[in-house]
Amino acid sequence: MVTQAAKNEVHLEPGLKRTIRFRIKRCDGPGKPARWENFDVPVVSGEGVNVISCLQWIAEHPKTAEGADTTPVVWDSGCLEEVCGACTMVINGSVRQSCSCQLDNYAPLDGDTITLEPMSKFPVVRDLWVDRSRLFHNLKRLKAWAPIDGLHDLGAGPKEHTDDQHVRYKISECMSCGCCLEACPQFHQEENEENWDSSFIGANTIAQARLFNLHETGKQLAGDRLDTLAAAGGVSDCGNAQNCVKVCPKEIPLTEAIAAIGRATTIHRVRKFFRGK
Ligand code: SF4
Ligand code: SF4
Ligand code: FES
Repeated sequence: MVTQAAKNEVHLEPGLKRTIRFRIKRCDGPGKPARWENFDVPVVSGEGVNVISCLQWIAEHPKTAEGADTTPVVWDSGCLEEVCGACTMVINGSVRQSCSCQLDNYAPLDGDTITLEPMSKFPVVRDLWVDRSRLFHNLKRLKAWAPIDGLHDLGAGPKEHTDDQHVRYKISECMSCGCCLEACPQFHQEENEENWDSSFIGANTIAQARLFNLHETGKQLAGDRLDTLAAAGGVSDCGNAQNCVKVCPKEIPLTEAIAAIGRATTIHRVRKFFRGK
């Protein structure tokens, strides 16, 4: 028998059959009411079954656990190896990627239940699929890129300091999944696009300011980024609850980045004050 406490240490013998109950929050489209449906999915241990492969099974067998015909559940995914962030959803109350949620470890017991919900901070497109446009809009709002004009050979770029490279490398692993935004009490769903530019920009975007402001080419836009982060919805809206850093699947030091950018923003403001512009 496998105890709940030992679940994370579980090593199931290959070929063992069990049934996992999925409780899925469904919604037919934007503005439509949500409902819950149950599905019983047969799983065989040792076959690398994850939440996505169970959703694929449900798509092939769209019948609820109670025997009613239904429509296939809709979700988003891309890489299937925790790189693109598209499959992010709320699993048993915690936000994470569904492709890397391996059932042999996560739900090793016959009859285990897994609850799936879409992220709550983004508009639902359908079922578990959400629209993360605001996240990408915020990266544009920040100018989260290194400005390079044209494709011609610019020669060797400026040298990067090794310490900066280490800081930047970790932040560069961000996959724009939205976990940090889902967990943040300061980031709220904002359906009116006119309010996006004054609403909290979020931990992931603030970290990208650190990434590009430390980059020898990217820092040409450092002042613009700090202006954005000094304005409404910028870094001062962070309440320092530190939920973001706890849920980031890439373990990006988000609170460290927020603190560094907070200091840089203050210095930027003071300099602007004395320069008079
Ligand atoms: S530290 Fe800031 S960004 Fe992170 S969860 Fe808290 S309020 Fe949100
Ligand atoms: S900072 Fe982490 S949690 Fe936030 S979007 Fe990037 S990878 Fe996801
Ligand atoms: S499908 Fe890309 S992170 Fe899960």
